[in-house]
Amino acid sequence: MRIAVTGSIATDHLMTFPGRFGDQLIADQLDRVSLSFLVDDLQVRRGGCAANIAFGMGCLGLSPILVGAVGADFADYRSWLERHGVDCGSVHLSETYHTARFLCTTDTEHNQIASFYTGAMADARLIELQPIADRVGGLDLVLVSPNDPDAMLRHTDEARQRGIPFAADPSQQLARMSGEDIRLLIDGAAYLFSNDYEKGLIEQKTGWSDGEILDRVGVRVTTLGPKGAVIDRKGEPSLHVSPAPELGKADPTGVGDAFRAGFLAGLAWDLSLERCGQLGNLTATHVLERVGCQEYELGQQVFLERFTGAYGAEAAAEVAGFVRCHHP
Ligand SMILES: Nc1ncnc2c1ncn2[C@@H]1O[C@H](COP(=O)(O)OP(=O)(O)OP(=O)(O)O)[C@@H](O)[C@H]1O
Ligand SMILES: [Mg+2]
Repeated sequence: MRIAVTGSIATDHLMTFPGRFGDQLIADQLDRVSLSFLVDDLQVRRGGCAANIAFGMGCLGLSPILVGAVGADFADYRSWLERHGVDCGSVHLSETYHTARFLCTTDTEHNQIASFYTGAMADARLIELQPIADRVGGLDLVLVSPNDPDAMLRHTDEARQRGIPFAADPSQQLARMSGEDIRLLIDGAAYLFSNDYEKGLIEQKTGWSDGEILDRVGVRVTTLGPKGAVIDRKGEPSLHVSPAPELGKADPTGVGDAFRAGFLAGLAWDLSLERCGQLGNLTATHVLERVGCQEYELGQQVFLERFTGAYGAEAAAEVAGFVRCHHP
């Protein structure tokens, strides 16, 4: 099964300032702020929703097709993703802009001053799916994850027109998209992914009830944080998939993306929705245990052991035939 993962590709530059921002701000001179914070630490983390999801799928042994727009500075990131099995052959290279970048400085009181530079991400709206399908011999599923809003609408529209099944994953972009646009993103989707909070937001913004949404999508997958996930299909009872026990909590950023990676891997292997949810939960747990979205490693033996521990030997035997982690 050939899966195209469309969405953002970005890096996060995270700095820490060993003082308090408030101490540097002079109340009666805020109309001409000119400040530079000497920071102690710089962490550069690979991210972007599509890159995170494709990375997770690659770690499980798949070769997902990453679709998004980047700048000339992408070379190192590209080789990292390719080393993890991601097909970067259809990543669009902007001639003008740098890769999207999140810059954030945090002070000792956890106050943050941040900027998000969209950069090349805006060029994602120039990407057409058909040449990608031609290059890889057809697409079986297109995931539309957070990206330039015009790109999300275009990919969804093109998939619909060409009859390619698509999965809607609007998450972070729900906040800035209109109800009308969100309806266009999810109507007719084979799968709809969101977390619990976003599920309510989708209903509020589209004006469609829970049941009306289920009428319009094939399968709705809702992640519940520490409670795992729930999978719904029209006319069938909800399927709750319990979480995979975590070994520790380091940083929740990126757990949603990792869940999608595991879930899509299960779909690619034609496993049941329950196995898909279990794969999603266990992959997400690995991200929770590390700081950063792509800092985890999947080892074949440990992954299957943990899968057995969480979901039993029979379930693990089913996924063992497919999971091919790069590490033993
Ligand atoms: N404490 C936890 N223990 C085990 N699994 C967890 C825990 N928190 C999250 N998960 C896993 O991560 C999945 C996604 O979590 P969540 O619903 O919080 O996503 P999200 O809100 O989209 O996160 P984000 O957007 O920050 O990546 C859950 O379905 C579950 O599998
Ligand atoms: Mg999320």
